[in-house]
Amino acid sequence: MKRPGMSQPDPTAFIRANLPISPVPSIPEILLHTAGPASGLWRLAGRREPDPPPYWAYPWAGGAVLARHLLDRPEMVGGRRVLDLGAGSGLVAIAAAKAGATTVTAIDIDANAIVAIGLNAAINGVNIVAWTADIIGELPPATDLLVVGDLFYNPLLALRVMAFLRRCQASGIEVLIGDPERAYLPQGELSRIATHAVEDFGGGTSGGAVPAGVFVLAGNG
Ligand SMILES: C[S@@+](CC[C@H](N)C(=O)[O-])C[C@H]1O[C@@H](n2cnc3c(N)ncnc32)[C@H](O)[C@@H]1O
Repeated sequence: MKRPGMSQPDPTAFIRANLPISPVPSIPEILLHTAGPASGLWRLAGRREPDPPPYWAYPWAGGAVLARHLLDRPEMVGGRRVLDLGAGSGLVAIAAAKAGATTVTAIDIDANAIVAIGLNAAINGVNIVAWTADIIGELPPATDLLVVGDLFYNPLLALRVMAFLRRCQASGIEVLIGDPERAYLPQGELSRIATHAVEDFGGGTSGGAVPAGVFVLAGNG
């Protein structure tokens, strides 16, 4: 929530100045502007400490496992349109583009994430169309593959996302979820297709490597 009376910096200049570029642990092929303790991210978000920092500024384990999976198996995205829902830093979208997707779209509700995705795409030499939107109440998008990294951290959001993913699958879109088994991941409705050990940066500090899963919706043919 934004606090009144706070001036906000230009997001592009802020990210360039305060979020150093570094390789993603477990995904050294990808470089990202990543927040650290000295980034003062709350200033960009119009918040004050100790409000929690925005989620887009870190590579989360759910995104990292999907990125690792797509880079290791480029046949999953080659020649296909890919949409990254809740893209955050753009980690999964960048992996899809590097692995040969025809087009990559990244969507996030946070406008600062969209700025970061543009900067991160340029650093990695890939093209991504990024826009600020909440599409999970809408009709399935025009895409072949929907990738969802670490979006099951909130109970209401998890319910909305699952309903959307079911509609997407019913319309012929392949759905891939990356998640380190967060509290609201509906594991009974999913099938795990792979596991990779990746770092989890929840809250901005590395918690070390965790075994995170790549999931499809159960019944996915
Ligand atoms: C935990 S982060 C994961 C980011 C990235 N996928 C990753 O794994 O590194 C969750 C992201 O989802 C975004 N988000 C939350 N609700 C959303 C919604 N309804 N539609 C799109 N993005 C959403 C947040 O702004 C945040 O950037």
